[in-house]
Amino acid sequence: MGAWFLAAPTPQAWVDAAAGNWRSLMSDHANCEKKAASTALALMFAYPEDATLSFALARLAREELRHFEQVSRLMEKLDVPFERQAPSRYAAGLRRHAASAEPRRKLDLMLIGALIEARSCERFELLAPRLPPQVGEFYADLARAEARHHELYIEHAKANAGEVDWEQRLRQLAEVEAELATSPDTVLRFHSGVVPGAR
Ligand SMILES: [Fe+2]
Ligand SMILES: [Fe+2]
Repeated sequence: MGAWFLAAPTPQAWVDAAAGNWRSLMSDHANCEKKAASTALALMFAYPEDATLSFALARLAREELRHFEQVSRLMEKLDVPFERQAPSRYAAGLRRHAASAEPRRKLDLMLIGALIEARSCERFELLAPRLPPQVGEFYADLARAEARHHELYIEHAKANAGEVDWEQRLRQLAEVEAELATSPDTVLRFHSGVVPGAR
């Protein structure tokens, strides 16, 4: 379950809490799709000289926006309200660890992208069988998409690693990611850790 490079699986307590709160989690999920599109666009602006990457990211941004449209439509259909929610600590907590100087920064951002997509893939898979069929089937589809996305980011990490041992760097960042995704957290979100007492 999940990509080979995740350093720890999602705790059962998160899955139980998320399955029990899937309606409210859907608002955060919609945000995550927007965020994924916006991250892809930001990377296109950051690395315009890398045409191969730009094409891949343009496609990715469109796909993530389509996911946003799909989840939003499903929310309307199921009468799930759109709530304004503060994001979890996860993405910012990970990006804090990206190198600030190039070319290391580009490699780190590709690896972080891969980790986020891989965690999404794992969590959609874990949640799919626990949700009402309409939502579960949608989440199973999304898990397959996220699996392609983490492969895309890994591919571009490899292409940009140069002399750097990218697998070793991936292991370091995966440790950070696993800590954020599994340790006690304050709010239940799609990428949060475990909120003590949440059910
Ligand atoms: Fe997506
Ligand atoms: Fe994605």
